[in-house]
Amino acid sequence: MAKLVQTLLPILSSIALLLAAANTACSQMTSFTYDFSGEHPKDLTYQGDARFQSETTYLRLTDAEASKVGRVLYPTPFQFWQASGQVDFETTINFIITPKEDRLPADGIAFFIAPDGSTIPAGSTGANLGVFDSSGSYPSVFAVEFDPHANNPWDPSFRHVGIDIGSRTSSNTTEVGGAITGQQVSAQINYAGATKMITVRVTAGNKTFDVSYEKDLSSFLPQKVQVGLSASTGDDFASHDIVSWYFSATMVNRK
Ligand SMILES: *[C@@H]1O[C@H](CO)[C@@H](O)[C@H](O)[C@H]1NC(C)=O
Ligand SMILES: *[C@@H]1O[C@H](CO)[C@@H](O)[C@H](O)[C@H]1NC(C)=O
Repeated sequence: MAKLVQTLLPILSSIALLLAAANTACSQMTSFTYDFSGEHPKDLTYQGDARFQSETTYLRLTDAEASKVGRVLYPTPFQFWQASGQVDFETTINFIITPKEDRLPADGIAFFIAPDGSTIPAGSTGANLGVFDSSGSYPSVFAVEFDPHANNPWDPSFRHVGIDIGSRTSSNTTEVGGAITGQQVSAQINYAGATKMITVRVTAGNKTFDVSYEKDLSSFLPQKVQVGLSASTGDDFASHDIVSWYFSATMVNRK
């Protein structure tokens, strides 16, 4: 009997390990890639001024005109968190912000996660980037902003990439100078539910910028969310184009 237990124990513990591994595996997955230079997808939700036009092959969120907002949302909502866990996600956005002649470029592009059914908030042109309302906040929205326009008093005094927790006043920023305008920019955003770490890496020409922030996104996002890209203009403007967008989210259960 002792012999049998000795033989069985390793087998039983292997099974327990396998079950534990299966428990942390993905139970749900959302993943998509859009290459806008090759396709004009019909399955995205287009809001405001977002569209394809004949002059450019990319997805145009706004023209270089005053007081515009354009957004796209991936139409299928997904579950961001549940009692037993929350998602890990990563996204890569390639974009071009093109200033007009000698005008100051404004107001920038945002990747955002919002409650299911999100629409353009009233008063969200200009510095509110199409994701925050006229007061500059939206408590259940997460965003990463690529902001070529320093808006007093809530922005830093420089062009920046910022991590936004329900507010246009970023929780952390990094200075980017002129790098995010007039050329193609690649931005990668990662979030790990286990560490609550948001990391952003932006590559523009031969420069790289990093910004990160620790925040439990499940503490203010609803369970069911949609992801989107937004851009806006105010008194100053630029055209905002999206070249491609990759996104992937996986539900990870707590151990
Ligand atoms: C980076 O690119 C700029 C503009 O193209 C160029 O002037 C500069 O020399 C480059 N720097 C390095 C270290 O390659
Ligand atoms: C802001 O981001 C930088 C770069 O990732 C990081 O070193 C710094 O700790 C961050 N600050 C906060 C308050 O998270």
